[in-house]
Amino acid sequence: MRIGVLKESAPRERRVALTPDAAARLIKQGSSVAVERGAGAGAHYPDAAYEAAGCTLVDSAEAESADLVVAVRRPTAERAARLREGAVLVALSAGDPGEALAALNGRRVTVLALERVPRITRAQSMDVLSSQATVAGYRAVILGAEALPRFLPMLTTAAGSITPAKALVLGAGVAGLQAIATARRLGAMVTGFDVRAAAAEQVESLGARFLAPEAVAGDAETKGGYAKELAEEQQQKVLEAVAGAIGQADLVIATAAIPNRPAPRLITTAMVESMKPGSVIVDVSAETGGNCELTRPGETVHHADVTILGPLDLPAGMPQHASQMFGRNVQTLLDHLAPKGALTVDLDDEITGAMCLAHEGTLRHRGNG
Ligand code: NAI
Repeated sequence: MRIGVLKESAPRERRVALTPDAAARLIKQGSSVAVERGAGAGAHYPDAAYEAAGCTLVDSAEAESADLVVAVRRPTAERAARLREGAVLVALSAGDPGEALAALNGRRVTVLALERVPRITRAQSMDVLSSQATVAGYRAVILGAEALPRFLPMLTTAAGSITPAKALVLGAGVAGLQAIATARRLGAMVTGFDVRAAAAEQVESLGARFLAPEAVAGDAETKGGYAKELAEEQQQKVLEAVAGAIGQADLVIATAAIPNRPAPRLITTAMVESMKPGSVIVDVSAETGGNCELTRPGETVHHADVTILGPLDLPAGMPQHASQMFGRNVQTLLDHLAPKGALTVDLDDEITGAMCLAHEGTLRHRGNG
């Protein structure tokens, strides 16, 4: 199987879908890997590292003509139309309003969407949403710590003692749990909250306090492990719990999300106004509208002496390790699709079937995210 690795073109996207290390593993299994020149540069993987791993460096047209093309994000419609007829594309759908998907389907390209890898134990090592959320949770704390005019850890010095900062993490999925662990490592006292009952134990196992167990909803979790939108009364309980805690927090990391829905609103303007001067909110959910009413995606807002960061593309901002994890996910997926280097698209397979948005000229899973 000939695998093509595309150079990303989206603004701010610095990751690459396959690192030299991941490519070397695929080459060992019998595939050949053609990397578009400069594809890894943004993530600090130079062309020479790919060459040393056994890849061939090619121009864009040659990378596009592979049997299987990998990218972090789905290429533009214009580029999609140049892929080889009948090829397979593995990428995130992010940023494509549907035009590129239509162009790919017109070329009878099989489109496998990485965000649709099912969250089952067998597919955990292929799950880019998890690996990239890990990066996002870590970076959110680092950005927050940088914006905070205070220390996170407790210090005892000749110039006096510093009490540890208090961090509040809202949403304890993959990003939230990593944020909790990172804030703890930096010495903050951490409180976490999630509407899913299962999250309480995970928060506590990281040494954080779980906020308001009474606000947890018994039926908040779907079969897939995700949260559902809350009923009005339940949402009110959550808002009360957040309002009661946010006044003591120095740093708030907000990660609450519901798949394919706008981010739940957990922090109102009044809550921001109740915070201590100099406090910081990092809204990891900015991309889907934000957990805080005042968040502006991609911008920093100052309100009532509180700084609200709405970072976009958090994983792309730490591209080397983000790509290492992404590349390992993709490589494991390709091992699954082509166990002995021979590619098969088996739509009856639980993983392939769930990921496949277009095959042999037919769009699948339409209106289903
Ligand atoms: P996500 O990014 O969709 O959401 C983040 C968190 O926000 C979730 O924990 C959700 O419960 C929480 N949330 C939603 N509405 C909220 C509200 N109103 N107040 C407070 N919190 C709210 O979720 P993510 O991180 O993608 O993971 C969701 C679940 O999937 C977790 O249970 C995780 O353990 C599970 N999972 C399973 C995997 C597997 O078995 N292969 C892999 C990755 C995750």
